Amino acid sequence: MHVLHVVGARPNFMKAAPVMAALGRREGVRQSLVHTGQHYDANMSDIFFRQLEMPKPDVSLEVGSGSHAVQTAEIMIKFEATLLERKPDLVLVYGDVNSTVAAALVAAKLRLPIGHVEAGLRSFDRDMPEELNRIVTDQLADVLFTPSADGDENLANEGIARERIVCVGNVMIDTLIRLLPKAKMPSLDGLNGDYALVTLHRPSNVDDPAVLRRILSALVEISTRCTIVFPLHPRTRQRIESLGEDLSANGQIIPLDPVGYTDCLALQRNARMVITDSGGLQEETTFLGVPCLTMRENTERPITIDVGTNTLVGTDVNRLKWKAFRILNGDVQPGRVPELWDGCASERIAEVVLSTYSRSGAVSKRAA
Ligand code: UD1
Repeated sequence: MHVLHVVGARPNFMKAAPVMAALGRREGVRQSLVHTGQHYDANMSDIFFRQLEMPKPDVSLEVGSGSHAVQTAEIMIKFEATLLERKPDLVLVYGDVNSTVAAALVAAKLRLPIGHVEAGLRSFDRDMPEELNRIVTDQLADVLFTPSADGDENLANEGIARERIVCVGNVMIDTLIRLLPKAKMPSLDGLNGDYALVTLHRPSNVDDPAVLRRILSALVEISTRCTIVFPLHPRTRQRIESLGEDLSANGQIIPLDPVGYTDCLALQRNARMVITDSGGLQEETTFLGVPCLTMRENTERPITIDVGTNTLVGTDVNRLKWKAFRILNGDVQPGRVPELWDGCASERIAEVVLSTYSRSGAVSKRAA
């Protein structure tokens, strides 16, 4: 059978890598990899391919940046040609980025079976473009691989048949478990003790100059108690520069270019706490048992709050500072690792893929 994987943006790579490896260990599976080029900088893309030991993409669509409509449309136009040429038995899409929904829409219209890895997550906040991407992708997918049981319930509530939903656990954690032994703390100029790791890139936090200014001044206050290591997403760097702010000026904040996968793991594991608006870091800190303060009003990953180490602080900087200082004073809530976040999620996906979409299964599904 032929499985075609679609990746495009940084958070896709660590999800696709273990699934490709698990399918690669099975007989009779041919795979191809399409990179849409949504993320294109070396430190947003290439470094992940190297560290995750992913094969070079078979097809690079090179769409680059653009408005949501432009980016999504460009991917659709180019991906349609790819699918018509390659005619896979199954298209696997990952997560909730624009590349995910664009690829799913094209495959659905060509009546090709779609699997969605990391299905069922909901923030119930349609201001987030990712929420729209999740809802549409899940409606279009034929088989929905969820990371936790709350995802199954969300999908069932949207009318998706139970037999299409498979709770397999968290594929990101497969990658984390595999690469944690290789995660060595990078040596950083100016760092010699405890630190908090900060990552921010959501439009809601970085696009409005007033909001961003408030957040930066809260980080400056926190940095009086604990050094801040701050890898900057290109969007965030650009917004901070246009405010005319120089983060390194106070000596207690260490701004960095985006870091690779293993450096990011090491920085999380050794941090006193993580302050973020990323989805992936909420999950990784839960696995690592590191306190996480999430600067969002909601999360599509409630399990990281219910059983993990995550706390939503919203964009209220007073709440952020209050929680951060409590953590620095030793008030840390213990968490536990959610069920099925065990390093075997991709094996479970591979089993389902083979049993459902081996050549005869794919043909019978299309005929139906
Ligand atoms: C995308 C995803 C988001 C994910 C994030 C991780 C969507 C809707 N959003 O958001 O869910 O959490 O990736 O990083 O798909 N840029 C570069 N180099 C790059 C990529 C982007 O400079 O390699 C700059 C461009 O100026 C671009 C901006 O970053 O305009 C935003 O990139 P884009 O891919 O549109 O969205 P993200 O904010 O990265």
